[in-house]
Amino acid sequence: MWRGWHAIAPPIRPLFRRYVELGNKGARELGFRDTGAMWRSKYDMPPEAFPAEMDRLWNQVRPLYLSLHAYVRAKLREKYGDVVPASGPIPAHLLGNMWAQEWENIYPLVAPKDADPGYDLTAILKAKHTQPLDIVRYGEHFFTSLGFAPLPKTFWERSLFVKPRDREVVCHASAWDVDQADDVRIKTCIEITAEDFSTIHHELGHNFYQRAYDQQPFLFRDSANDGFHEAIGDTIALSVTPEYLQKIGLLESVPDSSKDLGLLLHKALEKIAFLPFALMIDKWRWQVFSGEIPPEKYNEAWWQLRLKYQGVAPPVERTEADFDPGAKYHVPANMPYARYFLADILQFQFHRALAQVAGDRLNAMLAMGLSEPWPRALEALTGQKEMDATAILDYFAPLKRWLDEQNSGKPVGW
Ligand code: ASP
Ligand code: SER
Ligand code: ZN
Repeated sequence: MWRGWHAIAPPIRPLFRRYVELGNKGARELGFRDTGAMWRSKYDMPPEAFPAEMDRLWNQVRPLYLSLHAYVRAKLREKYGDVVPASGPIPAHLLGNMWAQEWENIYPLVAPKDADPGYDLTAILKAKHTQPLDIVRYGEHFFTSLGFAPLPKTFWERSLFVKPRDREVVCHASAWDVDQADDVRIKTCIEITAEDFSTIHHELGHNFYQRAYDQQPFLFRDSANDGFHEAIGDTIALSVTPEYLQKIGLLESVPDSSKDLGLLLHKALEKIAFLPFALMIDKWRWQVFSGEIPPEKYNEAWWQLRLKYQGVAPPVERTEADFDPGAKYHVPANMPYARYFLADILQFQFHRALAQVAGDRLNAMLAMGLSEPWPRALEALTGQKEMDATAILDYFAPLKRWLDEQNSGKPVGW
């Protein structure tokens, strides 16, 4: 009988420490200084230049994050009182997400007066008795409507879409290209929520990318860099607008443009709140791998970075008896995370460019696979060789103006 992980799993911190040693040993045998340097070596620039590139992009968006943070903090203070400081970090447990990484679950607490679009996709999907496979079909439909071929029969036969009743599986969503040809699959446990509606678009983005470059030589069958892979499905999902939901029969009437601000705020709670989180995860790991953060400081350094980048604080005192990074899937799973930061920036750059050009250019980039340095792949789609966060700022410009009005006279930053 299954007794739960706690019955068989030893504490994770000593295992993680050992994993760091072994990972570094392997990286050194491959000629890298440590695992972090190996991870940073995949961006067509010297590994030491990559963190500066991440910082450059973060500094472009940071003023928008500060505005959002200040607005949310003030709203949470109205609701919860002194537990939320007027000018300090936000307690991390109030943001509606286990890791305080995306904040859209608290949208109802912060919704702008008179600009709430007034629909809830989760409620609509549930009311329509949408089934897990229907969500996958909606996702596939978006891609086929752009001219991509439908997913193969084996995708539907071999993927894992729902949580099995009889065994434990890793439900964390992922997408697979099993035979480097047509056998693409996803593995996830779909729940009928707006969040999983986006997750499915995200995973299918991986599968359609995998199929687009399957004519490349073996070593080039990958995305231009790992941020590109993570960005494709999300780029598509940015077009899941009320107009689109109406088109596919999920929404009866489209809210008028006076409600755009609410939509933007909702998106910002997902996409802007996520950026400093996605940045700090690998800032932490890079320093762990290099030894700058020694094992005795794992947890302390984690919360220092959470404070510095996200402006969040733990709700109760943490010590080195805790190992909070271990609760984030990608950390024990040995999955680099900087890719999600890049994807958050790139998806807006792709989306803006796609609004100007169309499907042919997207396919030209995908079909290049890994055959060219990523700046060339980026250029094939966007006409730009550098990653550029002005797209994400353009997208949120009306919200930024409004946040600054809301914040006027109030402290911003911490
Ligand atoms: N969406 C999940 C996450 O990013 C898994 C994935 O990357 O496909 O962790
Ligand atoms: N899928 C990644 C995560 O769950 C990035 O959004 O953290
Ligand atoms: Zn992904």
